[in-house]
Amino acid sequence: MIIDTHCHLDFDQFRADRNSVIERAEKAGVRYFINVGSSLKGSRKSIELASEHDSVFASVGIHPDDADGITEETFTEVERLLENKKVIAIGEVGLDFFKKRSTPDKQKTLFTRFIDISKKRNLPLIIHNRDAARDTVDILKKNGTHPILGVMHCFSGDEKLLGEVLEMGLHVSFTCNLTFKNAKRLREIAKGVPLDRLLLETDAPFLAPQAYRGERNEPAYITELRDVLSEILNVSKEEIEKVTTENAKKLFKIP
Ligand code: NI
Repeated sequence: MIIDTHCHLDFDQFRADRNSVIERAEKAGVRYFINVGSSLKGSRKSIELASEHDSVFASVGIHPDDADGITEETFTEVERLLENKKVIAIGEVGLDFFKKRSTPDKQKTLFTRFIDISKKRNLPLIIHNRDAARDTVDILKKNGTHPILGVMHCFSGDEKLLGEVLEMGLHVSFTCNLTFKNAKRLREIAKGVPLDRLLLETDAPFLAPQAYRGERNEPAYITELRDVLSEILNVSKEEIEKVTTENAKKLFKIP
């Protein structure tokens, strides 16, 4: 039994065959999906999906790329969406200085605001960081609880960053990019994650595993990630499933 703690089944890439994608994943052992909102529209759609499928839970968040367009009305809507019982997390939120689609200052303000909401509602954070590790850590340390409830999604960085993330109490997840031929370094770093902080995620439709590289990713492929983690952490596939499922259930309060 597996929990895909981060996928975007609401995206257009799944419009034509969403139900078969979910069925294929369930056949592969995925019991629950956390459909992560990355915009207001996406968060609404996540909730819709969650209401249609028992196995789907939703998170509400706005990607840092969209930080420039935020108004107070956005937050009124966010608060309204958060009232839904199937919303179990805030995300994805964070900083993205790779493309800088929104001004860094606006991204920081938006991220801080979501940290406050997560504290107020006692909901875990699903954190996105791309090329912004320093600021992400600083903002979390300054504004977060101790320990911080949440996960550093699609972890990218070095041992030092991993150390800081763990120190803050966060969980860590890798996507199927851990299976890439050229991800040797990342696989080395992954060895430093204690089992009780590890989560599985696909980030589908993005980052299909090596075997399907370049194609659309889907939650059924999460077994490729499980297998590579089993290999590098030197524990059985069953154990990877068991601990990551326990971790996800506890963090996201999934019954
Ligand atoms: Ni994502």
